[in-house]
Amino acid sequence: MKEVLLQPINQRVAIATNTRVLDTLLAQQCPVMMACGGQGICATCHVYVAGGPDSLTPMGDREKRTLALITGAQPNSRLSCQCRVIGEGVEILLPEGLYVQSFNDLEALIGKRTKVPILHPKDGRILIQKDKIITRTYIMQLQDVDFNLGSLDVSNK
Ligand code: FES
Repeated sequence: MKEVLLQPINQRVAIATNTRVLDTLLAQQCPVMMACGGQGICATCHVYVAGGPDSLTPMGDREKRTLALITGAQPNSRLSCQCRVIGEGVEILLPEGLYVQSFNDLEALIGKRTKVPILHPKDGRILIQKDKIITRTYIMQLQDVDFNLGSLDVSNK
């Protein structure tokens, strides 16, 4: 067993050694998604490792390439579906923001005020800033945004 600190919920949780960080977050109902199904090619499971980076499995080429494309990635970024906990002292932080997976998700937000930034699922860029009231006009400007994760090529990653 290993202990992980999940800063978003300020809780230490005990998990089996070699558990994915993503599964640890999901088990605690943390707001993380897995839009690509855990293939390491989207932004929605992006986390920051605030402690114990050497207690995670090393980064593979696919994870490195995806992180290079994610807006807001930092030196302590990881894709939570690509790293497993193998030691003690791991602390996980989530980037601020809500990922959306489709234009329909955006339309459902019309008339609401964003409490957190609305983020693109592929590259994590901010589609709508925090504290904005979302209007239909604004959403229509985003209708050409490509949400299709299937268009990402994983063959050479
Ligand atoms: S779920 Fe897509 S990269 Fe982790």
